[in-house]
Amino acid sequence: MTSGGDAPGMNAAIRAVTRAGINNGLEVFGIMRGYEGMIEGDIVPLNTEAVSGIIQKGGTILLTARSARFREYEGRREAYEQLKRANIDAVVVIGGDGSFTGANIMSCEFDIPFIGIPGTIDNDLFGTDYTIGYDTALNTVVEAVDKIRDTATSHNRIFFVEVMGREAGFVAINSGIACGAEIVMIPKEKDQVKKARRFLAERARKNKSSIILVAEKLEEGSAMEIAEMLKPEFPQFDMRVSILGHIQRGGSPSAKDRVIASRMGVAAIEALLDHQKCIMIGLANDQIVQVPLNKTVKMYKAVDPNLIDLVDDIATLKVED
Ligand code: F6P
Repeated sequence: MTSGGDAPGMNAAIRAVTRAGINNGLEVFGIMRGYEGMIEGDIVPLNTEAVSGIIQKGGTILLTARSARFREYEGRREAYEQLKRANIDAVVVIGGDGSFTGANIMSCEFDIPFIGIPGTIDNDLFGTDYTIGYDTALNTVVEAVDKIRDTATSHNRIFFVEVMGREAGFVAINSGIACGAEIVMIPKEKDQVKKARRFLAERARKNKSSIILVAEKLEEGSAMEIAEMLKPEFPQFDMRVSILGHIQRGGSPSAKDRVIASRMGVAAIEALLDHQKCIMIGLANDQIVQVPLNKTVKMYKAVDPNLIDLVDDIATLKVED
């Protein structure tokens, strides 16, 4: 099953799980629409052909959902009964933090093994260097910001570009580096508006265009709010806001996401055959690892502070504290 926000590469993972399962003598089913479909018993048989021609497709052929019902015990009990009715012995769930939290709770309450495969553009799961979809999303952001840069330069404008990534800031920091953003504002770092203000004050002397990349969920406000706050202070600048939104979640997965998804899918089947019960498959130093689900949902994965320093080190203007 896939659950939570869709991510490019989920289909590659579904394909790998299905084929590796069948090739190891298992019977494979797809649960439709995440935990919603589990509660409703919306379960379909999968075979080798059913997953043909999907590795290059974005989204998820199993569809997905964020299920409020599954957060309640009653919903999980109903889901368990549906799994038993369909003779399902174990579940591979491809999703993010919320999906794994649900899996972790359900596997404590009921006797059903869960293997997690990290699938989210946010890359915010503890215990894995990469999550499926992150690389494609980064490339989407870089492509979009490169285009915005053309307008910023031609019109000599300041652009505040808001990117997804929840509270984590991985999408912002790495796409910021890759597209040469002048400033990257990320959650959990102090004084982000102050930093932008100091930068703009310096920039004002040269009157040059700039890209300021803003992570969503910044404690100090959204890209729109920050731009509105700074506009009156810098009337000499023509400021614009661009919120990239859900284009970051779509599209054909990158080669890297397809390979990671395929490796993780096979590793999930190996873990099941090895009688693992409640783990996430991760990638650490390019090696497959197994991480207890309760650890990945409880621990926090922080952005590497060296990357934050790196943005400053290669900036046009080094803004001192
Ligand atoms: O977790 C993936 C993500 O795209 C986040 O980056 C974003 O905050 C959220 O999902 C948006 O969720 P929805 O599509 O449900 O609005």
